[in-house]
Amino acid sequence: MNMKTILGTGLALTVLLSPFQEAAASGNVTTGDLRKIDNVAHRGATGYAPENTIAAFDKGVEMKSDYIEIDLQRSKDGELVIIHDTTVDRTTDGTGFVKDLTLDQLRQLDAGSWKGEEFTGEQIPTFDEILDRYRGKVGILIELKAPELYPGIEEQVANELKERNLHIPQNNKIIIQSFNFESVKKIDQLLPQVPVGVLTSSRAHITPEALQEFSAYAEWFNPNYGLVSKDLVRQIHELDMKIGSWTVRSQEAADFLIDMGVDAIITDYPDYVDPRK
Ligand code: G3P
Ligand code: CA
Repeated sequence: MNMKTILGTGLALTVLLSPFQEAAASGNVTTGDLRKIDNVAHRGATGYAPENTIAAFDKGVEMKSDYIEIDLQRSKDGELVIIHDTTVDRTTDGTGFVKDLTLDQLRQLDAGSWKGEEFTGEQIPTFDEILDRYRGKVGILIELKAPELYPGIEEQVANELKERNLHIPQNNKIIIQSFNFESVKKIDQLLPQVPVGVLTSSRAHITPEALQEFSAYAEWFNPNYGLVSKDLVRQIHELDMKIGSWTVRSQEAADFLIDMGVDAIITDYPDYVDPRK
């Protein structure tokens, strides 16, 4: 729920820019205030380890990301699992749709060796496993991936978070996002204190009218970086939303987004974002 009273939620101290960097980034050379950017490891530190595996998430934590981003789907027998594609074909040694395989079948797959021999044996994680391993250690940006394939997944996610007390502002390093805006709205109803975000690659979603509509329920507007401009960032901020952008895979892209003044950078390479290193 996008309310000023909970604007503090989901914010993590990340990249502390020097006053000079801040002034340059914001275009304001008079204040010198520090600016914070959330450093989000995209599917984990995907540049260094196989996406959406414990190896990648641990690497993100090790690299001092503020958040790990995870892609959430559901097995045939109703278990929440972490994988990006709706099939297992690209990132495991198996084939088939995630929704057609049981948890046991999914857990038997090798989700690491496609990235490198040293990652052989990495498994598709469960949502439970991720929450229990990382809560309190790093923020978790949860993407509901293709939720239209998984009726009721919003309630299931809400229950998992409530069971762990992760739905209240004191435990504010949880954000939920999706390309499916109806799903985002549903989550906002179920978990009004958890910040939610809309994802898009479409220019149709950066019109003033569209942005106004998103701001009625979303705290975050998270576009592909090809859509980002200083003017867009200004509009988002005027609507009391924050902006996180993706996917950084080069130093130039990271530098561009820092210059644009975004609030979060979702990156395969956490080190590109963090000038402290
Ligand atoms: O977090 C943003 C990003 O993950 C959205 O795209 O395809 O990598 O899930 P995708
Ligand atoms: Ca994602």
